[in-house]
Amino acid sequence: MIAQGTPLSRHTSFKVGGPPDRWAVPASEEALRETLVRCAETGEAVRALGGGKNLLVDDRGVEGTVIGFAGLRAVRIDGDLVVAQAGVSLPALMTRCVGRGLAGLDGLAGVPGTVGGAVRMNAGGVHGTIGERVEWVRGFTLRGEPFSFAGPECGFRYRGSRFADLVIVEVGLRLSPSGEDLRARVKEIIAKKSATQPLWSATAGCTFKNPPGGESAGRLLDRAGVKGLVLGGARYSTLHANFIENTGGGTFGDIMGLIAEGRRRVREQSGVELELEVEVWPRVTEGAFAAVGGAA
Ligand code: EPU
Repeated sequence: MIAQGTPLSRHTSFKVGGPPDRWAVPASEEALRETLVRCAETGEAVRALGGGKNLLVDDRGVEGTVIGFAGLRAVRIDGDLVVAQAGVSLPALMTRCVGRGLAGLDGLAGVPGTVGGAVRMNAGGVHGTIGERVEWVRGFTLRGEPFSFAGPECGFRYRGSRFADLVIVEVGLRLSPSGEDLRARVKEIIAKKSATQPLWSATAGCTFKNPPGGESAGRLLDRAGVKGLVLGGARYSTLHANFIENTGGGTFGDIMGLIAEGRRRVREQSGVELELEVEVWPRVTEGAFAAVGGAA
């Protein structure tokens, strides 16, 4: 349970964000549906919070209800089919599958977050994305109507899917039994990542998407000289230019300011308009509600 008034800074890896107007942590799929129906009836904004690992929230919090997924963490493994609810920790699931000799999530070593959030943004990297393993996804629309899509219907693309305005409840993943030393592979990926990314700092992962055409946002930002650039309590990582760290007391404004400055420098130097990978939840209104949705 999350107490009303709890700031989102306690539930985001950036450690930034005020409280939502209301928290809901449904204990079951049915309770989740009821929350969505209630919000739809009252016209209240509703947002789904996954692991909060790719999310920047306004210091003033957000309007409406934020849904947490701590009550939806069941996992069922049947041969090479893994069925996980949205709130399951992706690293924990990856480790469990690797322990059983099931390959397919090991390439996601070092990717934090929940299964629901990872599927929504098709999380991954050079060693593969979660979408490649998705057999089906079930959930609700923001009005509480059920949906179910098979893998090819999910619209997986680079850091995207069709689930932006849908709430994922459960995912079926098809893995492959493997004789390989998957633990060694995971260790190797984590070692490589920790040498090139600030894995243990308060960040939201890569700030910008890599632009189309094979260029790397990190390289462009590095060339534009942002490494180590500080604004208030936030700075561009000195290890990898596409990461912004909250070094202590960083605010929404500090991070937004760094985002704008990085974008400006890259635009001026390379003519490339970087697109945010991190999802931003600004507080739009002080009282009236707007209809928004998704999971982050
Ligand atoms: N580079 C620099 N300077 C930097 C950072 C990178 O010159 O400050 C260069 C590297 O030397 C390399 C190239 O840019 O030649 C690409 O860098 P890297 O190998 O680190 O990969 P990336 O494209 O920056 C992507 C994903 C990461 C994922 C890694 C590894 C994006 C935006 N980033 O990083 O995903 O972990 O590959 O699989 O797609 C994330 O999405 O949050 C994320 C961290």
